Amino acid sequence: MKDFIFQMPKRIEAGFSKSREIVRIIKGIELKNVLILVDYNLKRVGAVNHIFDNLREANICFTIFDNIKNEPTTTEIDQAINELNVTSNYDGIIGIGGGSTIDMAKLLAVSGSIEGSVKNYIGTNLINKPGIPLIVLPTTSGTGAEVTPNAIVKDRREKWKKGIISPYLIPTLVILDPELTFSVPPKITAETGLDAFTHAIECFIGKKSNPISDLFALDAIRLINKYLRRAVRDGSDREARYYMSLGSLYGGVAIINSGTGGVHALAYPLGGEYDISHGLSNSILLAEVMEFNAEAVSEKFIKVAEVMEIRTTDFTFTQEKIVKSVVDEIRKLVSDVGISSEGLFMVSDKVLDHLATMAISEQQRLLENNPRPISFEDARQIYKKSLELV
Ligand SMILES: [Fe+2]
Repeated sequence: MKDFIFQMPKRIEAGFSKSREIVRIIKGIELKNVLILVDYNLKRVGAVNHIFDNLREANICFTIFDNIKNEPTTTEIDQAINELNVTSNYDGIIGIGGGSTIDMAKLLAVSGSIEGSVKNYIGTNLINKPGIPLIVLPTTSGTGAEVTPNAIVKDRREKWKKGIISPYLIPTLVILDPELTFSVPPKITAETGLDAFTHAIECFIGKKSNPISDLFALDAIRLINKYLRRAVRDGSDREARYYMSLGSLYGGVAIINSGTGGVHALAYPLGGEYDISHGLSNSILLAEVMEFNAEAVSEKFIKVAEVMEIRTTDFTFTQEKIVKSVVDEIRKLVSDVGISSEGLFMVSDKVLDHLATMAISEQQRLLENNPRPISFEDARQIYKKSLELV
């Protein structure tokens, strides 16, 4: 029984076609001149034209910025801050896209309190005041960025990804419209969905977990395990997309209150080294880190087994077997949605040393929340098994 504080997102409007109600929502918070950040590909294929049309018809002034690279670098973010001069030119921001777009929108919203480079704000609670209102419309079900206080930035030359964390980065309002996720291709659906699953399970077993965030984390595990395969198989499956949207958001609520752990700590160096997506990095490490953690959190894994509907009533099923089944089931989920590390990596002892060094030296914030301490040698072994250098 622990003391805890539980924090919630500010406001969520959820449901099919909610993005078509953007004018009512914007008028509700009295915005007159907004900057819209939108994922380049979404804009190109016209997937969000209805939002622009609705705003035009209502005579709401807006400027579109779509020059957002996948997982923006600190240099690109600094350039956007200087170019857009957000706090002088706009009274609000709308971010439409996946985690990269939403993270960029968060940083632009607080750019009035950023001096010099965003690099100076990497870490926790270094942004000292609220920004302008920020409305976000997630178009992938994965990062949970729509509700979290985090923005991830990377340095391509130095090959790292790190977090800027501040309660002032939590968006003012989330419009959760599953219709916006219909066009996400299967591969990205799989990678982002497993990122959301990783949030949920890492938050649930994390040292900072609390009884209320556990409710969100467990239901996220249940929903994603039940619906991710369907969403990957058929992107227009309304029920699957709806519950994946919810599962992802629940994972984000769990992050606000608990936080991720070993998978994310090891995934950031992996993603930086090989320039692969955040979701893919997590997916590759997920099962091995969970196998490593299992002995420290077996009681919690029993609850995970229940929500993943793993048979636990058979008297031959010992606690040890159930825990092993959870790891097997996670491995199966990753494989069922088409993710494998086979042939992806050129690894060597030198690379393994480098990855483990980066994880241990740069990701202590996340490692501290992992239920079992991860040493340099542990990290090296997990990388080795995950990258199939056996
Ligand atoms: Fe993540």
